[in-house]
Amino acid sequence: MFVSLEGVDGSGKSTQAELLANALGPETLLVREPGGTEAAERIRALLADPSVELDPMAELLLFCAARADLVRQVVGPALKDGRDVVSDRFADSTSAYQGGARGLGVELAERLSDAATGGLEPDLTVLLWIDPESAASRSGGEDRFESQGLEFQVSVANAYEQIAVRNAERIVKVNAEGTPEDVHARVMESVGKRVTSNE
Ligand code: TYD
Repeated sequence: MFVSLEGVDGSGKSTQAELLANALGPETLLVREPGGTEAAERIRALLADPSVELDPMAELLLFCAARADLVRQVVGPALKDGRDVVSDRFADSTSAYQGGARGLGVELAERLSDAATGGLEPDLTVLLWIDPESAASRSGGEDRFESQGLEFQVSVANAYEQIAVRNAERIVKVNAEGTPEDVHARVMESVGKRVTSNE
């Protein structure tokens, strides 16, 4: 099973991705995007560098380039070996951030991501749902990603909402308020439901 976690910055995805991967067992592969291969980690460093000014289209293509490398080198082979994969962000991030919030268009972002992944989609995407203002108070980093401001996160949240409606069979919205344990229990419930409905 391939599960991705999505949400605005500060939604607690990374904690939840780790808790989910642990719960699914020791064979589970946990990856984060952008990253997970040497090339993708270097692309991540470039994208996060506040001193680098990047055109939005260049940014979109870099996220897709990192994803292409990760899918071909790591995620694809793991799934082929029958392992579960948990990804901290995947293609919906590009659709929400670059397609929606940056205004390049969700459809274009989807098409480019699709080309990058060769059409690989998660079996289930957990969208951690939290008011962007509460999320902003949780994260306080200062890299290029985190310095976008609340208005940007609100556009990201709106884009996610639309993407979730259009992909209702794949994306499950989970309330991300509460303790990590509370949220983890909700995540496990949605994963459990998906496993049962596929049996
Ligand atoms: P991440 O490390 O998940 O940050 P956080 O844990 O703070 O949410 O992601 C880094 C940033 O990259 C985050 O601001 C979202 C952004 N991003 C995109 O804009 N597009 C993408 O395709 C991906 C994967 C991430």
